[in-house]
Amino acid sequence: MVNPSLRGGFIRKPNETMRLVVTTFIGIVFGFFLGVSFPTLSLTKMNLPSGLFPSIDLTYIEDKYSGLSTRAFFKAFSSLRGNRGDFNQVYSFNDTKIWVPTNPRGAERLPPGIIASESDFYLRRLWGLPSEDLTVTPKYLVTFTVGYSQKKNIDAAVKKFSENFTILLFHYDGRTSEWEEFEWSKRAIHVSVPKQTKWWYAKRFLHPDIVAAYDYIFLWDEDLGVEHFNAEEYIKLVKKHGLEISQPGLEPNKGLTWQMTKRRGYSEVHKDTEEKPGWCTDPHLPPCAAFVEIMATVFSRDAWRCVWHMIQNDLVHGWGLDFALRKCVEPAHEKIGVVDSQWIVHQSVPSLGSQGKSEAGKQPWEGVRERCRKEWRMFQDRISNAEKAYFDSVGIDPPNSTVR
Ligand SMILES: *[C@@H]1O[C@H](CO)[C@@H](O)[C@H](O)[C@H]1NC(C)=O
Ligand SMILES: *[C@@H]1O[C@H](CO)[C@@H](O)[C@H](O)[C@H]1NC(C)=O
Ligand SMILES: *[C@@H]1O[C@H](CO)[C@@H](O)[C@H](O)[C@H]1NC(C)=O
Repeated sequence: MVNPSLRGGFIRKPNETMRLVVTTFIGIVFGFFLGVSFPTLSLTKMNLPSGLFPSIDLTYIEDKYSGLSTRAFFKAFSSLRGNRGDFNQVYSFNDTKIWVPTNPRGAERLPPGIIASESDFYLRRLWGLPSEDLTVTPKYLVTFTVGYSQKKNIDAAVKKFSENFTILLFHYDGRTSEWEEFEWSKRAIHVSVPKQTKWWYAKRFLHPDIVAAYDYIFLWDEDLGVEHFNAEEYIKLVKKHGLEISQPGLEPNKGLTWQMTKRRGYSEVHKDTEEKPGWCTDPHLPPCAAFVEIMATVFSRDAWRCVWHMIQNDLVHGWGLDFALRKCVEPAHEKIGVVDSQWIVHQSVPSLGSQGKSEAGKQPWEGVRERCRKEWRMFQDRISNAEKAYFDSVGIDPPNSTVR
């Protein structure tokens, strides 16, 4: 959907390139003269001319880079200084002060060319050339929120995702080292925070700028059966049918809540359904269309950038989010759908529910369930209040379909 070469700050305007060439040249000349003027500096006590360089406490640096000797560090530092002289221009001349209002907020003092505003979860080596660190560059991210008791299920699920996927596990039970028995665990990212939910982790660790390298982001629960699921095929279908938010169809076994997410045996993808009489006010609206559940959701990069902003910090269960996802894509009834031919089984294992707390004679899972419902109402209220406030502020009557 998005041409990678158009994202990020890699395209430099010609006059910027020119400026860069000029400043680099000045830096080189200046650095050369410095090198000539101060050929011998004490290795242990390097008091650089104040005003030109920040004075550097080498013992501190040595502590930080305990593997490197002072001599090695000084060698590295002086070659940097001699070759580039970058410090000079930044610290000595007022007329080269930088202020770029179009930079990300807070980074206006930096030259745009150095700004890395987006990140990824790629694992790197401590040696060699950075450009040679990655043998494959995963384009997709899959996250599972897991407890160790579901290890068999997760092991089976992870094996469905090739090296084109970064694997990120959120551990809600504090057990991470046990997973080392699995070979794939070494290439996975493990984030361990006890008793938190998928949406809590997502809000904290999957900021759109952090996951910007990934075309698609899978936010999956731990109790999904993946026997009939192939991740690469799934992505092909999602691309083919233009789905920005999707999920695999659910095997229609017991207790399916929604018709929409039920797998159909005869199609690749579906985007709408019929529900029980009276459930849908509009055939283009949830739960008849523009709707997937939150247990095995897959987001495109752009959709995720919107959805992340809609996730509330305190509403951790994500209930109600499924009904609101449609606000992030347009037209929602065409860009949200269910992939039928790559499907999963929802095993409905009570997992995080059992991490609740017994209160007032209620079972732990009852307390969790109650909070889920409460959050759903709160979320709906917040959305409709926010929409009302917006439409009031711009002075138009809200369309009927949004505030419900
Ligand atoms: C740089 O600017 C500061 C205040 O903006 C001023 O006091 C100082 O004299 C200037 N230095 C030079 C070298 O122009
Ligand atoms: C990984 O992605 C590349 C490029 O899209 C593709 O050629 C390759 O088949 C993928 N690997 C697997 C295991 O599907
Ligand atoms: C919107 O609501 C108003 C008043 O409730 C009603 O008269 C109108 O027909 C509704 N419009 C649509 C498109 O449903």
